[in-house]
Amino acid sequence: MRNDLVVRQLLPDLKQKKVLEVGCGICSFCNEAAPYVSEIYAIDIENKMQYIKKHPNLIFKMMDAVKLEFRPMTFDTVVYYNTVGHLERVIGESIDESLRVLRDDGKIIICSSMAYDRAVLDKLVTPYLQKLGLDVKITMYQSMKIVVASKKKRLTINYKEMKEKGLIKGA
Ligand SMILES: C[S@@+](CC[C@H](N)C(=O)[O-])C[C@H]1O[C@@H](n2cnc3c(N)ncnc32)[C@H](O)[C@@H]1O
Repeated sequence: MRNDLVVRQLLPDLKQKKVLEVGCGICSFCNEAAPYVSEIYAIDIENKMQYIKKHPNLIFKMMDAVKLEFRPMTFDTVVYYNTVGHLERVIGESIDESLRVLRDDGKIIICSSMAYDRAVLDKLVTPYLQKLGLDVKITMYQSMKIVVASKKKRLTINYKEMKEKGLIKGA
């Protein structure tokens, strides 16, 4: 799946927005999105600086997805691109962190064309986002499944509490 086509498809939620990409890996998404956004922070638990293309809007930071070093409500959009399977063990906590740094009218976009990622999306991520009461829209774009969850309000429960209350099956 061509990265430029995906970026074009997601443009309404990227254009002139402050964006966070979680688990940027070889930086295929953030490099492509950088010219359109107001700013994009790409984070990964490993140093991926060598994959970052020089662009004034693009900043790489080595950071754990479950311990984001950003203040609450910093971003308009948080993106997980072809990465959710690699985060399976911590995905609930990572989503909570992403929601914390997302503005109240922000969106979290989780997309992948990989079969394993999509299984994690279906079994774990989408049910959790729905149980949080977010407005969740699921679309297919060519081979890519795209889940867009709109925050719209401040959240009062998190993944750990939901698991403890038996409201969701965790990884
Ligand atoms: C499949 S790769 C991502 C591919 C990338 N999004 C792309 O399209 O080029 C998964 C990435 O998640 C990162 N990762 C795994 N656990 C993480 C964590 N706890 N916090 C941040 N990044 C993590 C890995 O280091 C790896 O680079």
